[in-house]
Amino acid sequence: MSAGVRRIAVIGAGPGGLYFAALAKRSAPHREITVWERDARDDAFGFGVVFSDETLDGIAQADPQVFAALSAEFARWSDIDVRYAGRVRTCGGHGFAALDRNRLRAILQRRCAELGVDVRYRTPAPAVERLAAEYDLVVAADGVRSATRAAFAETFRPELDERHCRYIWLATDKVFEAFTFIVEQYDFGTLQVHAYPYSDRRSTFIVEIAEEAWRKAGFEVPAGREPGRGESDLASVRRCERLLAGHLDGHRLIPSASRWIRFTTVRNATWHHRNVVLLGDAAHTAHFSIGSGTKLALEDALALAAALHEQPDPARTLAAYEAERRPVVASAQRAAQASLEWFETVERHTGQGPEQFAFNLLTRSRRVTYGNLRARDAAFVDSVDAAFDHAATGDAPADDTTADDTTPDRTAPDGARSVPPMFRPLRLGRLRLRNRIVVPPLATFTAVDGLPSGFDRAQLAAQALGGAGLVFTGMTAVSARGRATERCPGLWSHAQEEAWRSVVRAVRELGDTPLGIQLTHAGRRAASTVPGADGIGHPLTDGWPTLAASPLPWEAAGPPPREASAAELAGVVADFAAAAARADRAGFDVLGLQFGHGHLVSGFLSPLTNRRTDEYGGPLEHRLRLALEVLAAVRAAWPAGKPVVVRISAADWAPGGTTEAEAVAIGRALADAGADALDVSTGEVVAHQQVPYGRGYQVPFADLIRHATEVPTIAVGAISGHDDANSVLLAGRADLVAVGRAQLYDPLWTLHAAAEQGYTGPGARWPQPWQAGSRRPPGPGADRVAPRLRLLPETAAAPVHRRWLPGRPDAPPPERAPDRPEHRTEREPAEREPTERQPTEPAPN
Ligand SMILES: Cc1cc2nc3c(=O)[nH]c(=O)nc-3n(C[C@H](O)[C@H](O)[C@H](O)COP(=O)(O)OP(=O)(O)OC[C@H]3O[C@@H](n4cnc5c(N)ncnc54)[C@H](O)[C@@H]3O)c2cc1C
Ligand SMILES: Cc1cc2nc3c(=O)[nH]c(=O)nc-3n(C[C@H](O)[C@H](O)[C@H](O)COP(=O)(O)O)c2cc1C
Repeated sequence: MSAGVRRIAVIGAGPGGLYFAALAKRSAPHREITVWERDARDDAFGFGVVFSDETLDGIAQADPQVFAALSAEFARWSDIDVRYAGRVRTCGGHGFAALDRNRLRAILQRRCAELGVDVRYRTPAPAVERLAAEYDLVVAADGVRSATRAAFAETFRPELDERHCRYIWLATDKVFEAFTFIVEQYDFGTLQVHAYPYSDRRSTFIVEIAEEAWRKAGFEVPAGREPGRGESDLASVRRCERLLAGHLDGHRLIPSASRWIRFTTVRNATWHHRNVVLLGDAAHTAHFSIGSGTKLALEDALALAAALHEQPDPARTLAAYEAERRPVVASAQRAAQASLEWFETVERHTGQGPEQFAFNLLTRSRRVTYGNLRARDAAFVDSVDAAFDHAATGDAPADDTTADDTTPDRTAPDGARSVPPMFRPLRLGRLRLRNRIVVPPLATFTAVDGLPSGFDRAQLAAQALGGAGLVFTGMTAVSARGRATERCPGLWSHAQEEAWRSVVRAVRELGDTPLGIQLTHAGRRAASTVPGADGIGHPLTDGWPTLAASPLPWEAAGPPPREASAAELAGVVADFAAAAARADRAGFDVLGLQFGHGHLVSGFLSPLTNRRTDEYGGPLEHRLRLALEVLAAVRAAWPAGKPVVVRISAADWAPGGTTEAEAVAIGRALADAGADALDVSTGEVVAHQQVPYGRGYQVPFADLIRHATEVPTIAVGAISGHDDANSVLLAGRADLVAVGRAQLYDPLWTLHAAAEQGYTGPGARWPQPWQAGSRRPPGPGADRVAPRLRLLPETAAAPVHRRWLPGRPDAPPPERAPDRPEHRTEREPAEREPTERQPTEPAPN
């Protein structure tokens, strides 16, 4: 127990402040705990809050009495309905519990009163400096606009990220049966609704719209004046009611101090300052689309109360609290960020069919994956797979060589009706890939004099045997000076061409996996050391002269490259063309071009590294010139039917770098100039980059470019599991997935993924001599006898589909077709006249 913490001040009686006060008092009744709340006890703001299934465990344990009271009020269901393009897609098996936000507060208020916490309503907290001097601990649970955070901004270093959409938080007296996402398109843009029931009379109904569409729709100046404090924007409420009437079945939208606002993501460098600590929304927020804000505030409260109990002094209490909560919050905020960005860019996906759109929406935060969804509702995933199957096999291959490749693959994994998306074929140019997994360029740094080494040969052979649909060599220089390191292979000489031909021939004897070679000129990243543990090479002290767009060294202390003259650039273009012709003669199937990662062409594309004033510098069309010249020359030297794949860095992760719009423009220009696919990486353009590494962190760029340009994209970067690969593909975020380091860890990654998913079709061919090993070996306990059925406890499996049907408790679980037309009143192309029912204010809760 933390000695010396007898008097605690809590600022704010939201869920976080109240729950902390109750738990801290319960564990040490002698403590004096005072809570200040500026609003009245029963001031109503907001409507229902929803918790997802994993959320409630900790809360259930900490104070069973509170949990029992909450549980008695929960609306519970398991389905998510996605209403889009006139269809409703339903996915079950999720598990939600929701309740009225004011009931949540009332339960916590009652608990605080029972335990003897002094809660002072309608009383703004005294100045925090005064509280800090008079109390042993000050808990700032004062919400998203925390004045405490502002008072100690120098320590907390808050980052407030106001997002791009507008939203208005409403309720409706239509009781939805499930979590319902509505995406509707109008002439001004797209409206999306996040709706869910929270009682037997009400549902939460949040309407969200991108800023530009919001202005275009004329929501900007409601009724000619801004609503005052506590007032609602009734004109907008009525307008939403009319626009979304088809989903409301004659019910009303109910405001409560509701107006269009923008969500702010709050982050802080630290959460405590001396004896003052931030908790809940004051410390961090997570977008409402993942429904976690209240949960995070309650969990913070629990962690802080537990740390008070477990730690010997206040300093260690606050350190332990922060150490426990930071990683959890960071993970929730990553998911929330992906989710909010998905909704901000929803129009990127509105061309998708209803099945793929629903899957895409459900997997938007990257927490829910293909595998989780299959475990929750296999019929739903089967229906999405089937739609993908149709799209994939509708694309007849041009150069099929084997009979089984031409027949649609119906070899589903055990227990499933469909084939995992990663094992769907894809055509690139005239080449047919048997599956969607790529081994990206993975340099070995083992060459001598630019000749591929025995290790290069062994690596290519191992990867080609491993089952991927396409395997690349590591970067291969088009000239001696264009090598990143002395140990990189090249393709500028006849001897090198012969050596690569011999490598290709040897690998061909093992199977027919298509082989690609990545060509590069490393530009200002040439003449470097072989990368060490950090994966980055540093300039050689005794290297060779290098070329770049501008004379900017990779590292400040390194030797600057020379600014390439027009004549030198013409030489580089010719080198690429000659190397492409050699690659064709050596027998490669695919040509990869390294236009990313700060290599020569990448250095021209990025505004950070191109300071030229000639026709190769300045506006993007000039910065693109070298890339387009190289691509044109390569396309002329490389057979038309063989694909060219271009790798780009779609972001530089540094201020002033390539923008999203520029990345799209680059992708479009390259596709127009003959690139068959874009391999969308990011970064390594400048050494001072700040990269937000995380699972699949580069996927949004592949998604962006794919949807903006309709060019096939390869997603790459921290995609390590087959579940993530399947999710990316099925959601339509990319056409191919490159798995790098995980295929160094396990060169048979693709075949093992097939075995783990029970897939045995033509998308994953085991080498004939290894057939005996094509099944996963039994693990420990495989020989254990399964318990006899009649001895198992009587646990009826939870139904996949549970709807919220208050007043109809005996209603049989509805037959849920995963896809059905919306039963709606007539779809309205334009707005209707206002309905007779007008929303009232405040909400009758
Ligand atoms: C549109 C929307 C929908 C949401 N939906 C969900 C959901 O479905 N599920 C979910 O889990 N979360 C949801 N949230 C998030 C949730 O509302 C918050 O995360 C949660 O309320 C945070 O609790 P808190 O105690 O930290 O702060 P708050 O609930 O904001 O409480 C802070 C309190 O401090 C008081 N206060 C502030 N300054 C002072 C002062 N100087 N003196 C005295 N009192 C003060 C305020 O009056 C307020 O009562 C949603 C949020 C939004 C915006
Ligand atoms: C050892 C190693 C060598 C690499 N060599 C190259 C290369 O030659 N060319 C290139 O474009 N990327 C290269 N990369 C980057 C990978 O192609 C890939 O983009 C990166 O590893 C991210 O994917 P992953 O997270 O699946 O590993 C290399 C990466 C590693 C780990």
